[in-house]
Amino acid sequence: MNSTHDSKIIIALDFKDEASALALVEQLEPSLCRLKVGKELFVRCGPLLVKKLINKGFDVFLDLKFHDIPNTVAAACQAAADMGVWMVNVHACGGRKMMQAANEAIQQSSHKPLLIAVTVLTSLSRQDIAEIGLDIEPAEQVLRLARLARDSGMDGVVCSPQEVKLLKQEIAQDFTLVTPGVRPAGAAIGDQQRIMTPAQALSAGSDYLVIGRPITAAPDPLYAVNNIIKECENI
Ligand code: C5P
Repeated sequence: MNSTHDSKIIIALDFKDEASALALVEQLEPSLCRLKVGKELFVRCGPLLVKKLINKGFDVFLDLKFHDIPNTVAAACQAAADMGVWMVNVHACGGRKMMQAANEAIQQSSHKPLLIAVTVLTSLSRQDIAEIGLDIEPAEQVLRLARLARDSGMDGVVCSPQEVKLLKQEIAQDFTLVTPGVRPAGAAIGDQQRIMTPAQALSAGSDYLVIGRPITAAPDPLYAVNNIIKECENI
């Protein structure tokens, strides 16, 4: 059962074990936020934890960034849909056939998660992508892969808040944009590079904000979530 609320905040549950993840989740409400389960927590705790979160009423973004041959990615997306997740993602550089296969698998499911593509990882510099054979500006590659993702049936992409305006303009206003790299005013930046505040990211057109440490490492996570919600109220 997915929540019927429309929270824009997706909290990244980047924890090493179920107890730590649930200790945070117990303080939250599905009306306030959605939850993201990434590789570390999923590899440690698996689908049972995801189902537990869904049964508590939360929408879950399964952030496993599938990238493999079309048949394998389609089967993994089908499994994610069967698990009942709200959003799942794949790497756009897996190509058109892989994304189309993922989309077909989801369209055939009774429960249809949003299908989101990752374009260029924000950790990759111009030099890093040159080293893997792409002599192109990262921003140009982001736009190319976002177009391919849209044409291959994806609902949207993960992108930096700085890319939101351009992608809404160049792709489509209803193309779902999910943005990490969000830091409330005054929060520690950590290892994120090109950040915006939640209010700035939403004003730019971001549909969902992925926020981890500013909430998970806060002394009072619920207070931190409520502050972010308040900051965004008038947008
Ligand atoms: O703690 P923080 O707010 O930086 O967490 C951001 C979350 O978004 C992490 O789970 C991270 O893996 C994820 N993410 C990201 N940048 C991307 C894609 C995903 O920070 N380009």
